[in-house]
Amino acid sequence: MTDVNKLKTELTEIVAAANDLITLESARVQALGKKGKITALMKTLGGMDPEERKTTGAALNMLKDEIAELIATQERALKKQDLEQRLATETIDVSLPIRPESKGKIHPISHTMEELTAIFSSMGFSVAEGPDIEDDWHNFTALNFPPGHPAREMHDTFYLPDDPEEQGEAAKKLLRTHTSTVQIRAMQDKGAPIKIIVMGRTYRSDYDITHTPMFHQCEGLYIDKNVNMGHLKGCLMDFVRAYFEVDNLPVQFRPSFFPFTEPSAEMDIGCSRKDGGLKIGAGEDWLEILGCGMVHPNVIKNCGLDPDEYQGFAFGMGIERIAMLKYGIPDLRTFFESDVRWLDHYGFDPLDRPNRATGS
Ligand code: PHE
Repeated sequence: MTDVNKLKTELTEIVAAANDLITLESARVQALGKKGKITALMKTLGGMDPEERKTTGAALNMLKDEIAELIATQERALKKQDLEQRLATETIDVSLPIRPESKGKIHPISHTMEELTAIFSSMGFSVAEGPDIEDDWHNFTALNFPPGHPAREMHDTFYLPDDPEEQGEAAKKLLRTHTSTVQIRAMQDKGAPIKIIVMGRTYRSDYDITHTPMFHQCEGLYIDKNVNMGHLKGCLMDFVRAYFEVDNLPVQFRPSFFPFTEPSAEMDIGCSRKDGGLKIGAGEDWLEILGCGMVHPNVIKNCGLDPDEYQGFAFGMGIERIAMLKYGIPDLRTFFESDVRWLDHYGFDPLDRPNRATGS
């Protein structure tokens, strides 16, 4: 028994003297390890008479628990002390400039989407979404493209295999050719009044300097009881002036055709094309920027709303196109080549904040 008491004093001192985690670990090995002091004493139990073996064995087991507890307490204390020391000595100077090697840039599409969100949300639009894989009904029929109508051919649609689980037009799957599909989904889901923009990928089978098979559109939809063409003009005029950052940017609306709007128009902004350059603002020339119109009564009806009660406007534009015009990017295809030199040149600093002015 005296051996156990002596060992207890010895081990307690060793543990208490360990003033860092490495020394504490070696104290643990010394005391509790396979070749440690307690194990060594355990091995002598076999040579004792039964009574002594019983009491010494129990005492040794208790000692083992006590020492393990002591080590755990010491470990907690050392870790706490370590943390306090680090907190006291390690500091971060938050005013230091960011490291020059951080080269990440925001893609012009993402940046432009943030600008569009900032401008339209300040006019009261919220952001809605819909799926890239659509069906014939949402992409065409509900938008007042009658079956077999030639306007369907204008879209160079990518069709997917029919969905065997659906019937009729819902089974005819395709990659959406425009974000106007979300006009339908949003009106069906949320009813009216509704004031949304939709930004996302759209797909058409086309490829040259101004067309890529995948591109992005921004769609707007505003439906209420008294929305008229004047609201459409005011909203889009404010938008282009805020986006291009040109006060009094001239605009004109030309009559056009879309099956889902009546009347339909295309909006142009003023520009000048001197010496091979393009400058947006007052000038001798016009540049087409987007399609728009008053939502066709059939579309409103197809979404379960009453066109005698509700009316409104919609518009749609190519996000790459407006980004190319604002940032002087000459070739649409380069947006999707993932060339880091291009991104380094045309990309945006992650800390840049999009322009929030609305001109109104
Ligand atoms: N969806 C049309 C297109 O892709 C654009 C548009 C949207 C026109 C909304 C009018 C109203 O060309």
